[in-house]
Amino acid sequence: MGADTTNQHQVYLNGEFLPRNEAKISVFDSAVMLGDTVTESTRTFAHKLFKLEQHIERLYRSLKVTRISPGISMPEMVELSLRVLEQNSSLLAPHEDCWLVHNISRGLSIPGADPTIQHSPATIILFTSPLILTDWAPFYVEGCHAVTPMSRAIPSQSLDARIKNRSRMAYTLAEIEVKLVDPKAQGIILDIYGNVAENKGGNFFLFSEGVLKTPSTSAALAGISRATVLELAGLLGIPVRECDLQAYDIYTADEAFFTSTPYCIMPATRFNGLPVGDGNVGPVTKQLLAAWSDLVGVDIVAQGLKQLNLSEWIVPHTLLILATQKFCPPEMLPWSQDTWRATLFRWCIAKPPNPRRHVNAGWESKSSERNSIDRTRREPPL
Ligand SMILES: Cc1ncc(COP(=O)(O)O)c(C=O)c1O
Repeated sequence: MGADTTNQHQVYLNGEFLPRNEAKISVFDSAVMLGDTVTESTRTFAHKLFKLEQHIERLYRSLKVTRISPGISMPEMVELSLRVLEQNSSLLAPHEDCWLVHNISRGLSIPGADPTIQHSPATIILFTSPLILTDWAPFYVEGCHAVTPMSRAIPSQSLDARIKNRSRMAYTLAEIEVKLVDPKAQGIILDIYGNVAENKGGNFFLFSEGVLKTPSTSAALAGISRATVLELAGLLGIPVRECDLQAYDIYTADEAFFTSTPYCIMPATRFNGLPVGDGNVGPVTKQLLAAWSDLVGVDIVAQGLKQLNLSEWIVPHTLLILATQKFCPPEMLPWSQDTWRATLFRWCIAKPPNPRRHVNAGWESKSSERNSIDRTRREPPL
């Protein structure tokens, strides 16, 4: 990866472009006081915003349902979004992409009996950040471990999951439970009836009996990546079905994956400790990832892996794959090609990390390794 330019990106706040460390809102903003904020995260491919109009349409649906008046129209918001990207895109290296995040709150919150009154113009925040994929990239190759937390999704009767909002406490608590099982696991939150709802920042799919299945949006955000996968599956002739899914369906599926704006498709190869299918990233998942890459003209997997600085990995990996493809009949191989790939990959990423990632080590407390790792990495703004 190139130099980290995150801090040079300008933030749009209520009509002004500001350096990141000068972009400040009131401590009495309803975003802080009430978690009363709707949001969007859009990513670029090759520096172009992907499905921006759909993201802005979803944002305006969230604004309408939450009765927050943004004070600007949908076309103006599209134009503003493009301006924010333009302001910052020169900071992106050619191979790099970014997020564009919209956060819109009801503005100042005046303590009193009625929190629904909008006392001031909405607080409008738009910012870009380089898209850091390092947390997810290994999963393109080896798949992630999906785990169900104890906590259930907030029922839509209380808060409709289609409102993309920043009141994230329920998702965070569920994710804490997931990380207690496996610090790298990704959550599959169930609804109160035991059906799969979604992940804290993504939707869920599985492939079984020749059909790609995903829950409806009755307890999940209508993800734009989810819609993209459904479109791509249609083009590829893969049958799709929106239906209730329970844990049993995941245990017995051939393939499973999550979808979300930053990583697009994240394969899951284990579920609550058991392998999904044969425990490798499956052919349908790979086909969809390849089709998405074709659609946007960016090799999604290669972009993620490139950030892992795996030059040491690429050479042995390529040689091994070539050798196994060219010289070994499949029945002579002790493992499948995917298992070789995942094993090599795991071996490579288990090596000591690049010392550049530990530049802050001097001021960190040595008492908590987990904290020190967390502090050196940039959190994705989901
Ligand atoms: C709760 C939740 N579900 C699903 C998604 C995936 O939506 P999208 O594909 O539009 O990024 C997100 C994205 O942030 C989310 O926050």
